[in-house]
Amino acid sequence: MCGIVGYNGKNSAIDVLLSGLKNLEYRGYDSAGIALIDKDINIIKSVGKIKNLEDKLDIDSLKKYNIGIAHTRWATHGEVNEENAHPHRVGKITLVHNGIIENADILRKELEEKDYKFNSNTDTEVIAALLDYNLEDDFLNTINKTLEQLKGSYALGIINENEKDKLYAVKKDSPLVIGLREDEVYFASDICAINMYTNEFIFLQEKDIAVITNDDDEVDVEVYNGNMREERYIDVIETDELTKSKNGYSHYMLKEINEQPIVLEKTLNKYLDDLDLIPDISDYEVIHIVACGSAMYAGMVAKYLFEEKAKKQVIVEVASEYRYRSINYDRKTLVILISQSGETADTIAAMRYAKEHGATTLAVVNVKTSTIAREADYKLFIEAGEEIAVATTKAYLLQVALLSLIALKLAHDKNLIEDINKYIEEFRLIPKLVKEVIDKEEVYKEIAQEIYERENSFFIGRKIDYAYCLEGSLKLKEVSYIHSEAYQAGELKHGTISLINQGMPVFGILTEKDIYEKTLSNVKEVASRGAKTIIITTNELKTDNDLEVVVPATSIFTQGLLVVPTLQLIAYYTALLRDCDIDKPKNLAKSVTVE
Ligand code: AGP
Repeated sequence: MCGIVGYNGKNSAIDVLLSGLKNLEYRGYDSAGIALIDKDINIIKSVGKIKNLEDKLDIDSLKKYNIGIAHTRWATHGEVNEENAHPHRVGKITLVHNGIIENADILRKELEEKDYKFNSNTDTEVIAALLDYNLEDDFLNTINKTLEQLKGSYALGIINENEKDKLYAVKKDSPLVIGLREDEVYFASDICAINMYTNEFIFLQEKDIAVITNDDDEVDVEVYNGNMREERYIDVIETDELTKSKNGYSHYMLKEINEQPIVLEKTLNKYLDDLDLIPDISDYEVIHIVACGSAMYAGMVAKYLFEEKAKKQVIVEVASEYRYRSINYDRKTLVILISQSGETADTIAAMRYAKEHGATTLAVVNVKTSTIAREADYKLFIEAGEEIAVATTKAYLLQVALLSLIALKLAHDKNLIEDINKYIEEFRLIPKLVKEVIDKEEVYKEIAQEIYERENSFFIGRKIDYAYCLEGSLKLKEVSYIHSEAYQAGELKHGTISLINQGMPVFGILTEKDIYEKTLSNVKEVASRGAKTIIITTNELKTDNDLEVVVPATSIFTQGLLVVPTLQLIAYYTALLRDCDIDKPKNLAKSVTVE
Protein backbone atom coordinates (compact mmCIF):
# COMPACT_ATOMS: atom_id res chain seq x y z
CA MET A 1 0.00 0.00 0.00
CA CYS A 2 1.50 3.37 -1.05
CA GLY A 3 2.58 6.26 1.14
CA ILE A 4 2.21 9.98 0.46
CA VAL A 5 3.94 13.00 2.06
CA GLY A 6 3.57 16.68 1.16
CA TYR A 7 4.99 19.93 2.55
CA ASN A 8 4.28 23.60 1.86
CA GLY A 9 5.97 25.94 4.30
CA LYS A 10 8.51 28.52 5.26
CA ASN A 11 11.29 25.93 5.67
CA SER A 12 13.03 23.36 3.47
CA ALA A 13 10.81 20.63 2.08
CA ILE A 14 13.38 17.93 1.35
CA ASP A 15 14.06 16.86 4.94
CA VAL A 16 10.36 16.64 5.74
CA LEU A 17 9.69 14.60 2.61
CA LEU A 18 12.50 12.11 3.15
CA SER A 19 11.86 11.62 6.88
CA GLY A 20 8.17 11.24 6.11
CA LEU A 21 8.86 8.53 3.53
CA LYS A 22 11.09 6.68 6.01
CA ASN A 23 8.33 6.70 8.59
CA LEU A 24 6.00 5.22 6.01
CA GLU A 25 8.34 2.34 5.12
CA TYR A 26 6.28 0.04 7.37
CA ARG A 27 3.53 0.20 4.70
CA GLY A 28 5.69 -1.79 2.32
CA TYR A 29 6.98 -0.37 -0.98
CA ASP A 30 9.15 -1.12 -4.00
CA SER A 31 9.98 2.37 -5.36
CA ALA A 32 10.02 5.99 -4.21
CA GLY A 33 10.12 9.52 -5.59
CA ILE A 34 9.86 13.23 -4.84
CA ALA A 35 8.81 16.37 -6.71
CA LEU A 36 9.95 19.84 -5.63
CA ILE A 37 8.62 23.11 -6.99
CA ASP A 38 11.41 25.23 -8.41
CA LYS A 39 11.32 27.39 -11.53
CA ASP A 40 10.40 24.04 -13.05
CA ILE A 41 9.09 20.93 -11.28
CA ASN A 42 12.06 18.87 -10.11
CA ILE A 43 11.16 15.15 -10.12
CA ILE A 44 13.54 12.42 -8.87
CA LYS A 45 12.51 8.77 -8.61
CA SER A 46 14.16 5.44 -7.84
CA VAL A 47 13.39 1.74 -7.61
CA GLY A 48 14.00 -0.08 -4.33
CA LYS A 49 14.67 1.39 -0.91
CA ILE A 50 14.55 5.10 -0.05
CA LYS A 51 18.33 5.03 0.27
CA ASN A 52 18.50 4.55 -3.51
CA LEU A 53 16.50 7.76 -3.90
CA GLU A 54 18.73 9.61 -1.42
CA ASP A 55 21.81 8.48 -3.35
CA LYS A 56 20.41 10.38 -6.35
CA LEU A 57 19.84 13.61 -4.46
CA ASP A 58 22.20 16.53 -3.94
CA ILE A 59 20.47 17.35 -0.66
CA ASP A 60 22.25 20.69 -0.09
CA SER A 61 21.22 22.02 -3.49
CA LEU A 62 17.60 20.98 -2.85
CA LYS A 63 17.29 22.61 0.57
CA LYS A 64 16.21 25.92 -0.92
CA TYR A 65 12.90 24.47 -2.15
CA ASN A 66 10.04 24.67 0.35
CA ILE A 67 7.13 23.08 -1.52
CA GLY A 68 7.04 19.43 -2.54
CA ILE A 69 5.39 16.02 -2.58
CA ALA A 70 6.82 12.52 -2.12
CA HIS A 71 5.70 8.93 -2.48
CA THR A 72 6.52 5.30 -1.72
CA ARG A 73 4.89 2.95 -4.23
CA TRP A 74 3.58 -0.53 -3.52
CA ALA A 75 2.93 -1.74 -7.06
CA THR A 76 -0.69 -2.42 -7.99
CA HIS A 77 -0.95 -1.34 -11.65
CA GLY A 78 2.26 -1.96 -13.58
CA GLU A 79 5.59 -3.53 -12.77
CA VAL A 80 8.26 -2.19 -10.43
CA ASN A 81 10.36 0.31 -12.43
CA GLU A 82 11.19 4.03 -12.47
CA GLU A 83 8.62 4.84 -15.16
CA ASN A 84 5.86 3.52 -12.91
CA ALA A 85 7.24 5.14 -9.76
CA HIS A 86 5.49 8.30 -8.53
CA PRO A 87 5.33 11.32 -8.85
CA HIS A 88 3.77 11.28 -12.29
CA ARG A 89 3.78 14.39 -14.49
CA VAL A 90 1.47 15.09 -17.42
CA GLY A 91 1.46 18.57 -18.95
CA LYS A 92 1.00 21.07 -16.12
CA ILE A 93 0.13 18.44 -13.52
CA THR A 94 2.43 16.48 -11.20
CA LEU A 95 0.92 14.16 -8.60
CA VAL A 96 1.28 11.22 -6.20
CA HIS A 97 -1.51 8.75 -5.46
CA ASN A 98 -2.44 6.03 -2.96
CA GLY A 99 -5.38 3.88 -4.01
CA ILE A 100 -6.78 2.17 -7.10
CA ILE A 101 -8.70 3.78 -9.98
CA GLU A 102 -11.06 1.08 -11.19
CA ASN A 103 -11.94 2.77 -14.52
CA ALA A 104 -8.35 3.74 -15.39
CA ASP A 105 -8.21 1.66 -18.57
CA ILE A 106 -11.34 3.27 -20.03
CA LEU A 107 -10.11 6.76 -19.15
CA ARG A 108 -6.69 5.98 -20.62
CA LYS A 109 -8.22 4.99 -23.96
CA GLU A 110 -10.39 8.15 -24.03
CA LEU A 111 -7.33 10.31 -23.33
CA GLU A 112 -5.22 8.52 -25.93
CA GLU A 113 -7.92 9.39 -28.44
CA LYS A 114 -7.29 13.00 -27.41
CA ASP A 115 -3.58 12.51 -28.26
CA TYR A 116 -2.32 11.95 -24.74
CA LYS A 117 0.75 9.74 -24.64
CA PHE A 118 1.53 7.71 -21.50
CA ASN A 119 5.00 6.83 -20.21
CA SER A 120 3.82 4.35 -17.57
CA ASN A 121 1.11 1.72 -17.22
CA THR A 122 -0.17 3.10 -13.94
CA ASP A 123 -3.64 4.32 -13.06
CA THR A 124 -1.98 7.32 -11.40
CA GLU A 125 -0.65 8.76 -14.65
CA VAL A 126 -4.22 8.62 -15.99
CA ILE A 127 -5.37 10.86 -13.12
CA ALA A 128 -2.64 13.39 -13.97
CA ALA A 129 -3.60 13.34 -17.65
CA LEU A 130 -7.29 13.79 -16.83
CA LEU A 131 -6.54 16.78 -14.59
CA ASP A 132 -4.40 18.26 -17.34
CA TYR A 133 -7.15 17.66 -19.88
CA ASN A 134 -9.78 19.28 -17.60
CA LEU A 135 -7.43 22.15 -16.69
CA GLU A 136 -9.05 25.57 -16.34
CA ASP A 137 -8.08 28.72 -14.42
CA ASP A 138 -10.19 27.69 -11.44
CA PHE A 139 -8.24 24.57 -10.44
CA LEU A 140 -10.82 23.65 -7.81
CA ASN A 141 -13.31 23.22 -10.67
CA THR A 142 -10.69 21.16 -12.52
CA ILE A 143 -10.34 18.82 -9.56
CA ASN A 144 -14.09 18.51 -8.94
CA LYS A 145 -14.74 17.75 -12.59
CA THR A 146 -12.00 15.12 -12.56
CA LEU A 147 -13.25 13.47 -9.36
CA GLU A 148 -16.65 13.01 -10.98
CA GLN A 149 -14.97 10.94 -13.69
CA LEU A 150 -12.87 8.76 -11.37
CA LYS A 151 -14.13 5.46 -9.93
CA GLY A 152 -12.14 3.93 -7.10
CA SER A 153 -10.05 4.99 -4.15
CA TYR A 154 -7.49 7.78 -3.98
CA ALA A 155 -5.43 9.97 -1.73
CA LEU A 156 -3.74 12.54 -3.96
CA GLY A 157 -0.98 15.14 -3.58
CA ILE A 158 -1.15 17.49 -6.58
CA ILE A 159 1.05 20.23 -8.05
CA ASN A 160 -0.40 22.53 -10.74
CA GLU A 161 2.42 24.36 -12.56
CA ASN A 162 0.15 27.36 -13.06
CA GLU A 163 0.01 27.81 -9.28
CA LYS A 164 3.51 27.20 -7.95
CA ASP A 165 2.63 28.60 -4.52
CA LYS A 166 0.03 25.89 -3.89
CA LEU A 167 -0.31 22.21 -3.12
CA TYR A 168 -3.59 20.32 -3.31
CA ALA A 169 -4.45 17.23 -1.23
CA VAL A 170 -7.53 15.15 -2.10
CA LYS A 171 -9.03 12.17 -0.22
CA LYS A 172 -11.50 9.43 -1.10
CA ASP A 173 -11.40 6.01 0.63
CA SER A 174 -7.59 6.16 1.12
CA PRO A 175 -6.52 7.99 4.31
CA LEU A 176 -4.94 11.44 4.16
CA VAL A 177 -4.15 13.70 7.11
CA ILE A 178 -3.09 17.36 7.21
CA GLY A 179 -0.52 18.52 9.78
CA LEU A 180 -0.57 22.13 10.94
CA ARG A 181 2.18 24.36 12.27
CA GLU A 182 2.75 28.10 12.02
CA ASP A 183 3.36 28.85 8.34
CA GLU A 184 3.96 25.19 7.64
CA VAL A 185 1.41 22.68 6.37
CA TYR A 186 2.10 18.97 5.93
CA PHE A 187 0.04 16.12 4.58
CA ALA A 188 0.59 12.37 4.69
CA SER A 189 -1.07 8.97 4.45
CA ASP A 190 -0.48 8.40 8.18
CA ILE A 191 0.27 10.79 11.04
CA CYS A 192 3.41 8.83 11.88
CA ALA A 193 5.00 10.45 8.78
CA ILE A 194 4.61 13.98 10.16
CA ASN A 195 3.96 13.70 13.91
CA MET A 196 7.53 14.63 14.73
CA TYR A 197 6.73 18.17 13.45
CA THR A 198 3.29 18.81 14.90
CA ASN A 199 0.52 17.49 17.13
CA GLU A 200 -2.30 19.28 15.30
CA PHE A 201 -4.04 17.31 12.58
CA ILE A 202 -7.04 17.55 10.25
CA PHE A 203 -8.28 14.14 9.08
CA LEU A 204 -9.69 14.84 5.62
CA GLN A 205 -13.17 13.46 5.01
CA GLU A 206 -14.54 11.78 1.89
CA LYS A 207 -13.86 13.89 -1.25
CA ASP A 208 -12.30 16.71 0.75
CA ILE A 209 -9.91 18.93 -1.20
CA ALA A 210 -7.28 20.75 0.85
CA VAL A 211 -5.79 23.85 -0.81
CA ILE A 212 -2.46 24.77 0.79
CA THR A 213 -1.22 28.23 -0.21
CA ASN A 214 2.16 29.80 0.43
CA ASP A 215 2.02 33.59 0.20
CA ASP A 216 5.58 34.78 0.83
CA ASP A 217 6.07 32.18 3.53
CA GLU A 218 2.69 32.86 5.09
CA VAL A 219 1.09 29.47 4.62
CA ASP A 220 -2.45 28.41 5.27
CA VAL A 221 -4.86 25.64 4.29
CA GLU A 222 -8.49 25.75 3.19
CA VAL A 223 -10.63 22.62 2.94
CA TYR A 224 -13.35 22.30 0.30
CA ASN A 225 -15.87 19.59 -0.45
CA GLY A 226 -17.16 20.14 -3.94
CA ASN A 227 -17.02 23.94 -4.27
CA MET A 228 -18.11 24.47 -0.65
CA ARG A 229 -15.57 25.73 1.88
CA GLU A 230 -15.70 23.41 4.93
CA GLU A 231 -14.58 23.92 8.52
CA ARG A 232 -12.72 20.82 9.72
CA TYR A 233 -12.00 19.87 13.34
CA ILE A 234 -8.36 20.07 14.40
CA ASP A 235 -7.33 16.96 16.37
CA VAL A 236 -4.51 17.41 18.88
CA ILE A 237 -2.73 14.07 19.15
CA GLU A 238 0.34 13.59 21.32
CA THR A 239 2.68 10.85 20.13
CA ASP A 240 4.48 8.78 22.69
CA GLU A 241 8.10 9.10 21.67
CA LEU A 242 8.73 5.64 23.12
CA THR A 243 6.56 4.25 20.34
CA LYS A 244 9.03 5.50 17.79
CA SER A 245 11.98 3.72 19.34
CA LYS A 246 12.62 0.00 19.63
CA ASN A 247 13.44 0.39 23.32
CA GLY A 248 16.54 -1.73 22.84
CA TYR A 249 14.78 -4.62 21.14
CA SER A 250 16.26 -5.78 17.84
CA HIS A 251 12.89 -5.54 16.06
CA TYR A 252 9.59 -3.73 16.54
CA MET A 253 7.88 -7.13 16.44
CA LEU A 254 9.80 -8.32 19.51
CA LYS A 255 9.23 -4.99 21.24
CA GLU A 256 5.51 -5.15 20.59
CA ILE A 257 5.28 -8.78 21.75
CA ASN A 258 6.90 -7.70 25.00
CA GLU A 259 4.55 -4.73 25.30
CA GLN A 260 1.57 -7.09 25.43
CA PRO A 261 1.34 -7.39 29.24
CA ILE A 262 1.36 -3.59 29.53
CA VAL A 263 -1.17 -2.78 26.82
CA LEU A 264 -3.28 -5.79 27.81
CA GLU A 265 -3.56 -4.46 31.36
CA LYS A 266 -4.41 -0.99 30.07
CA THR A 267 -7.16 -2.29 27.78
CA LEU A 268 -8.58 -4.89 30.15
CA ASN A 269 -8.72 -2.54 33.13
CA LYS A 270 -10.48 0.14 31.08
CA TYR A 271 -13.41 -2.22 30.50
CA LEU A 272 -13.20 -4.33 33.68
CA ASP A 273 -13.52 -1.12 35.67
CA ASP A 274 -16.71 -0.30 33.76
CA LEU A 275 -18.25 -3.20 31.86
CA ASP A 276 -21.09 -0.91 30.81
CA LEU A 277 -18.67 0.58 28.28
CA ILE A 278 -19.57 -2.58 26.37
CA PRO A 279 -23.07 -2.23 24.93
CA ASP A 280 -25.74 -4.83 25.72
CA ILE A 281 -26.01 -6.78 22.45
CA SER A 282 -28.27 -9.53 23.81
CA ASP A 283 -31.29 -8.57 21.69
CA TYR A 284 -29.49 -8.95 18.37
CA GLU A 285 -30.71 -12.15 16.77
CA VAL A 286 -27.74 -12.56 14.41
CA ILE A 287 -24.07 -11.65 14.85
CA HIS A 288 -21.64 -11.42 11.95
CA ILE A 289 -17.93 -10.89 12.61
CA VAL A 290 -16.11 -9.46 9.60
CA ALA A 291 -12.40 -8.63 9.17
CA CYS A 292 -9.23 -9.53 7.30
CA GLY A 293 -6.12 -11.54 8.18
CA SER A 294 -5.24 -11.73 11.85
CA ALA A 295 -8.22 -9.55 12.73
CA MET A 296 -10.49 -12.17 11.21
CA TYR A 297 -8.65 -14.87 13.17
CA ALA A 298 -9.35 -12.93 16.33
CA GLY A 299 -12.97 -13.08 15.23
CA MET A 300 -12.70 -16.85 14.94
CA VAL A 301 -11.63 -17.06 18.59
CA ALA A 302 -14.61 -14.90 19.49
CA LYS A 303 -16.97 -17.16 17.54
CA TYR A 304 -16.27 -20.09 19.86
CA LEU A 305 -16.69 -17.91 22.94
CA PHE A 306 -19.99 -16.38 21.77
CA GLU A 307 -21.39 -19.79 20.81
CA GLU A 308 -20.17 -21.83 23.78
CA LYS A 309 -20.54 -19.34 26.60
CA ALA A 310 -23.19 -16.86 25.37
CA LYS A 311 -25.21 -19.36 23.30
CA LYS A 312 -25.21 -16.95 20.37
CA GLN A 313 -24.59 -18.23 16.85
CA VAL A 314 -21.92 -16.23 15.03
CA ILE A 315 -20.98 -16.11 11.36
CA VAL A 316 -17.35 -15.12 10.74
CA GLU A 317 -16.40 -13.96 7.24
CA VAL A 318 -13.39 -12.42 5.58
CA ALA A 319 -14.31 -8.88 4.61
CA SER A 320 -13.14 -9.29 1.00
CA GLU A 321 -15.87 -11.92 0.52
CA TYR A 322 -18.54 -10.49 2.83
CA ARG A 323 -18.74 -7.24 0.89
CA TYR A 324 -19.89 -9.14 -2.23
CA ARG A 325 -22.30 -11.55 -0.53
CA SER A 326 -26.03 -11.08 -0.95
CA ILE A 327 -26.92 -11.24 2.71
CA ASN A 328 -30.49 -11.30 3.96
CA TYR A 329 -30.56 -8.94 6.93
CA ASP A 330 -34.15 -9.87 7.74
CA ARG A 331 -33.41 -10.40 11.44
CA LYS A 332 -31.95 -7.88 13.88
CA THR A 333 -28.27 -8.16 12.93
CA LEU A 334 -25.11 -6.88 14.55
CA VAL A 335 -22.01 -6.79 12.34
CA ILE A 336 -18.78 -6.63 14.34
CA LEU A 337 -15.88 -5.18 12.34
CA ILE A 338 -12.38 -5.86 13.66
CA SER A 339 -9.47 -3.77 12.45
CA GLN A 340 -6.20 -2.54 13.95
CA SER A 341 -5.69 0.26 11.42
CA GLY A 342 -9.34 0.99 10.80
CA GLU A 343 -8.35 1.66 7.19
CA THR A 344 -8.45 -1.81 5.61
CA ALA A 345 -10.31 -1.22 2.35
CA ASP A 346 -12.25 -4.49 2.33
CA THR A 347 -13.31 -4.11 5.96
CA ILE A 348 -14.46 -0.54 5.30
CA ALA A 349 -16.44 -1.75 2.29
CA ALA A 350 -18.00 -4.57 4.33
CA MET A 351 -18.96 -2.10 7.07
CA ARG A 352 -20.60 0.23 4.54
CA TYR A 353 -22.41 -2.72 2.91
CA ALA A 354 -23.81 -3.78 6.27
CA LYS A 355 -24.90 -0.23 7.14
CA GLU A 356 -26.52 0.26 3.73
CA HIS A 357 -28.59 -2.89 4.39
CA GLY A 358 -29.81 -1.79 7.81
CA ALA A 359 -27.48 -3.78 10.05
CA THR A 360 -25.95 -2.19 13.15
CA THR A 361 -22.16 -2.04 13.11
CA LEU A 362 -19.78 -2.32 16.06
CA ALA A 363 -16.07 -1.74 15.49
CA VAL A 364 -13.27 -3.24 17.58
CA VAL A 365 -10.47 -0.96 16.44
CA ASN A 366 -7.09 0.46 17.50
CA VAL A 367 -6.69 3.72 15.56
CA LYS A 368 -9.24 6.10 17.04
CA THR A 369 -9.12 8.56 14.12
CA SER A 370 -9.57 5.91 11.42
CA THR A 371 -12.39 5.60 8.90
CA ILE A 372 -13.89 2.54 10.59
CA ALA A 373 -13.71 4.22 14.00
CA ARG A 374 -15.50 7.25 12.58
CA GLU A 375 -18.20 5.47 10.60
CA ALA A 376 -19.21 2.46 12.75
CA ASP A 377 -22.38 2.85 14.82
CA TYR A 378 -20.60 1.62 17.96
CA LYS A 379 -16.84 1.61 18.48
CA LEU A 380 -14.81 -0.13 21.18
CA PHE A 381 -11.15 0.79 21.22
CA ILE A 382 -8.24 -1.42 22.10
CA GLU A 383 -5.37 0.51 23.65
CA ALA A 384 -2.48 -1.09 21.76
CA GLY A 385 -0.76 2.19 20.94
CA GLU A 386 0.93 2.48 17.56
CA GLU A 387 1.81 -0.93 16.11
CA ILE A 388 4.73 -0.58 13.71
CA ALA A 389 5.73 -4.15 12.82
CA VAL A 390 3.73 -5.32 9.81
CA ALA A 391 2.99 -8.64 11.52
CA THR A 392 0.44 -7.80 14.16
CA THR A 393 0.96 -9.14 17.66
CA LYS A 394 -0.23 -6.81 20.45
CA ALA A 395 -3.17 -5.52 18.42
CA TYR A 396 -4.36 -9.06 17.62
CA LEU A 397 -4.05 -10.09 21.28
CA LEU A 398 -6.03 -7.05 22.43
CA GLN A 399 -8.67 -7.74 19.80
CA VAL A 400 -9.04 -11.24 21.27
CA ALA A 401 -9.10 -9.85 24.80
CA LEU A 402 -11.78 -7.26 24.05
CA LEU A 403 -13.90 -9.72 22.07
CA SER A 404 -13.63 -12.14 25.01
CA LEU A 405 -14.93 -9.43 27.32
CA ILE A 406 -17.80 -8.73 24.90
CA ALA A 407 -18.65 -12.44 24.96
CA LEU A 408 -18.41 -12.51 28.77
CA LYS A 409 -20.69 -9.48 29.09
CA LEU A 410 -23.17 -10.98 26.63
CA ALA A 411 -23.26 -14.24 28.59
CA HIS A 412 -23.78 -12.22 31.77
CA ASP A 413 -26.51 -10.07 30.19
CA LYS A 414 -28.25 -13.32 29.18
CA ASN A 415 -27.92 -14.67 32.74
CA LEU A 416 -25.74 -17.53 31.56
CA ILE A 417 -22.85 -16.69 33.90
CA GLU A 418 -23.31 -17.48 37.58
CA ASP A 419 -20.39 -15.50 38.97
CA ILE A 420 -18.98 -12.90 36.61
CA ASN A 421 -16.58 -11.69 39.32
CA LYS A 422 -14.70 -14.98 39.09
CA TYR A 423 -13.96 -14.22 35.45
CA ILE A 424 -13.20 -10.57 36.10
CA GLU A 425 -10.55 -11.62 38.61
CA GLU A 426 -9.14 -14.08 36.08
CA PHE A 427 -8.88 -11.38 33.44
CA ARG A 428 -7.07 -9.10 35.88
CA LEU A 429 -4.40 -11.81 36.41
CA ILE A 430 -3.82 -12.39 32.70
CA PRO A 431 -1.23 -9.64 31.99
CA LYS A 432 1.08 -11.14 34.62
CA LEU A 433 0.62 -14.65 33.21
CA VAL A 434 1.28 -13.36 29.67
CA LYS A 435 4.55 -11.88 30.92
CA GLU A 436 5.54 -15.25 32.41
CA VAL A 437 4.74 -16.95 29.09
CA ILE A 438 6.75 -14.40 27.10
CA ASP A 439 9.73 -14.66 29.42
CA LYS A 440 10.14 -18.41 28.70
CA GLU A 441 11.96 -17.47 25.52
CA GLU A 442 14.49 -20.33 25.66
CA VAL A 443 11.81 -22.89 24.79
CA TYR A 444 10.71 -20.83 21.78
CA LYS A 445 14.31 -20.46 20.61
CA GLU A 446 14.77 -24.24 20.94
CA ILE A 447 11.69 -24.91 18.81
CA ALA A 448 12.81 -22.33 16.25
CA GLN A 449 16.17 -24.11 16.06
CA GLU A 450 14.34 -27.37 15.30
CA ILE A 451 12.17 -26.01 12.48
CA TYR A 452 13.88 -23.01 10.81
CA GLU A 453 15.39 -25.05 7.98
CA ARG A 454 12.03 -26.48 6.95
CA GLU A 455 9.88 -25.04 4.15
CA ASN A 456 6.43 -26.41 5.07
CA SER A 457 4.48 -26.80 8.29
CA PHE A 458 1.04 -27.47 9.77
CA PHE A 459 -0.88 -26.21 12.76
CA ILE A 460 -3.67 -28.53 13.90
CA GLY A 461 -6.38 -28.19 16.51
CA ARG A 462 -10.08 -28.58 17.22
CA LYS A 463 -12.69 -25.97 18.18
CA ILE A 464 -11.12 -22.83 19.66
CA ASP A 465 -7.68 -24.45 19.40
CA TYR A 466 -8.17 -24.37 15.63
CA ALA A 467 -8.74 -20.61 15.85
CA TYR A 468 -5.39 -20.25 17.63
CA CYS A 469 -3.84 -22.38 14.86
CA LEU A 470 -5.01 -19.88 12.25
CA GLU A 471 -3.08 -17.03 13.85
CA GLY A 472 -0.02 -19.17 14.68
CA SER A 473 0.17 -20.34 11.08
CA LEU A 474 -0.16 -16.82 9.67
CA LYS A 475 2.51 -15.43 12.01
CA LEU A 476 4.97 -18.15 11.00
CA LYS A 477 4.47 -17.77 7.27
CA GLU A 478 4.35 -13.98 7.11
CA VAL A 479 7.62 -13.37 9.00
CA SER A 480 9.69 -16.54 8.27
CA TYR A 481 8.32 -17.33 4.79
CA ILE A 482 7.90 -21.00 5.80
CA HIS A 483 4.70 -22.20 4.15
CA SER A 484 2.15 -23.16 6.75
CA GLU A 485 -1.44 -24.31 6.93
CA ALA A 486 -3.81 -24.25 9.86
CA TYR A 487 -6.00 -27.35 9.73
CA GLN A 488 -8.91 -28.67 11.71
CA ALA A 489 -7.26 -31.73 13.30
CA GLY A 490 -10.15 -33.96 12.29
CA GLU A 491 -9.70 -33.02 8.65
CA LEU A 492 -6.10 -34.17 8.21
CA LYS A 493 -7.09 -37.72 7.34
CA HIS A 494 -9.35 -36.42 4.54
CA GLY A 495 -6.42 -35.89 2.20
CA THR A 496 -3.85 -33.54 3.66
CA ILE A 497 -2.03 -36.17 5.73
CA SER A 498 -0.53 -37.30 2.42
CA LEU A 499 1.69 -34.22 2.62
CA ILE A 500 3.29 -35.20 5.90
CA ASN A 501 6.92 -36.09 5.35
CA GLN A 502 10.02 -36.71 7.37
CA GLY A 503 10.85 -33.85 9.70
CA MET A 504 7.89 -31.65 8.71
CA PRO A 505 6.94 -29.44 11.67
CA VAL A 506 3.36 -30.04 12.86
CA PHE A 507 2.13 -27.90 15.76
CA GLY A 508 -0.66 -29.44 17.82
CA ILE A 509 -2.63 -27.03 20.01
CA LEU A 510 -4.43 -28.84 22.81
CA THR A 511 -6.04 -26.68 25.46
CA GLU A 512 -9.58 -28.04 25.51
CA LYS A 513 -10.11 -31.01 27.82
CA ASP A 514 -13.11 -32.46 25.97
CA ILE A 515 -11.26 -33.01 22.69
CA TYR A 516 -7.72 -33.30 24.02
CA GLU A 517 -7.42 -37.06 23.43
CA LYS A 518 -8.67 -36.79 19.86
CA THR A 519 -6.19 -34.11 18.86
CA LEU A 520 -3.37 -35.87 20.69
CA SER A 521 -4.05 -38.99 18.63
CA ASN A 522 -3.89 -36.86 15.46
CA VAL A 523 -0.49 -35.57 16.62
CA LYS A 524 0.69 -39.13 17.16
CA GLU A 525 -0.62 -40.14 13.71
CA VAL A 526 1.51 -37.51 11.97
CA ALA A 527 4.47 -38.26 14.24
CA SER A 528 4.30 -41.91 13.18
CA ARG A 529 4.61 -40.65 9.59
CA GLY A 530 7.78 -38.73 10.30
CA ALA A 531 6.47 -35.29 11.35
CA LYS A 532 8.39 -33.27 13.92
CA THR A 533 5.57 -32.53 16.36
CA ILE A 534 5.43 -29.53 18.67
CA ILE A 535 2.64 -29.40 21.25
CA ILE A 536 1.22 -26.27 22.84
CA THR A 537 -0.85 -27.25 25.86
CA THR A 538 -1.69 -26.34 29.45
CA ASN A 539 -0.25 -27.49 32.76
CA GLU A 540 -3.37 -29.64 33.19
CA LEU A 541 -2.93 -31.51 29.89
CA LYS A 542 0.80 -32.17 29.63
CA THR A 543 1.98 -34.82 27.19
CA ASP A 544 5.22 -36.76 26.70
CA ASN A 545 6.02 -34.97 23.44
CA ASP A 546 9.69 -34.01 23.11
CA LEU A 547 8.93 -30.46 22.01
CA GLU A 548 6.22 -29.04 24.20
CA VAL A 549 5.19 -25.60 25.40
CA VAL A 550 3.08 -25.53 28.57
CA VAL A 551 1.04 -22.50 29.61
CA PRO A 552 -1.08 -22.04 32.75
CA ALA A 553 -4.59 -23.48 32.39
CA THR A 554 -7.29 -20.80 32.54
CA SER A 555 -10.89 -20.57 31.39
CA ILE A 556 -11.79 -20.52 27.71
CA PHE A 557 -12.34 -16.74 27.97
CA THR A 558 -8.62 -16.10 28.50
CA GLN A 559 -6.73 -19.25 27.45
CA GLY A 560 -5.94 -17.88 24.01
CA LEU A 561 -4.24 -14.86 25.52
CA LEU A 562 -1.59 -17.26 26.89
CA VAL A 563 -1.38 -19.59 23.88
CA VAL A 564 -0.89 -17.09 21.06
CA PRO A 565 2.18 -15.27 22.45
CA THR A 566 4.03 -18.61 22.35
CA LEU A 567 3.24 -18.86 18.64
CA GLN A 568 4.26 -15.25 18.03
CA LEU A 569 7.66 -15.87 19.62
CA ILE A 570 8.24 -19.16 17.79
CA ALA A 571 7.53 -17.32 14.53
CA TYR A 572 9.82 -14.45 15.55
CA TYR A 573 12.82 -16.62 16.52
CA THR A 574 12.37 -18.80 13.43
CA ALA A 575 12.40 -15.71 11.20
CA LEU A 576 15.49 -14.47 13.05
CA LEU A 577 17.35 -17.70 12.25
CA ARG A 578 16.25 -17.36 8.62
CA ASP A 579 17.56 -13.80 8.54
CA CYS A 580 14.23 -12.41 7.35
CA ASP A 581 13.19 -8.75 7.24
CA ILE A 582 11.04 -9.30 10.31
CA ASP A 583 9.42 -5.86 10.74
CA LYS A 584 8.80 -5.39 7.02
CA PRO A 585 8.21 -8.82 5.43
CA LYS A 586 8.47 -8.83 1.64
CA ASN A 587 5.32 -7.98 -0.35
CA LEU A 588 3.38 -7.12 2.84
CA ALA A 589 1.87 -3.82 3.98
CA LYS A 590 0.78 -2.88 7.48
CA SER A 591 -2.60 -1.67 6.41
CA VAL A 592 -4.13 -2.85 3.13
CA THR A 593 -5.97 0.30 2.11
CA VAL A 594 -6.41 -0.95 -1.45
CA GLU A 595 -8.52 -3.93 -2.48
C1 AGP B 1 -1.35 -9.77 10.29
O1 AGP B 1 -0.06 -9.94 10.89
C2 AGP B 1 -1.32 -8.83 9.12
N1 AGP B 1 -0.65 -7.62 9.43
C3 AGP B 1 -2.68 -8.69 8.48
O2 AGP B 1 -3.28 -9.96 8.37
C4 AGP B 1 -3.69 -7.77 9.21
O3 AGP B 1 -4.12 -8.39 10.41
C5 AGP B 1 -4.87 -7.55 8.28
O4 AGP B 1 -4.38 -6.92 7.12
C6 AGP B 1 -5.97 -6.68 8.89
O5 AGP B 1 -5.45 -5.41 9.16
P1 AGP B 1 -6.34 -4.43 10.10
O6 AGP B 1 -6.46 -5.10 11.44
O7 AGP B 1 -5.57 -3.14 10.16
O8 AGP B 1 -7.68 -4.27 9.43
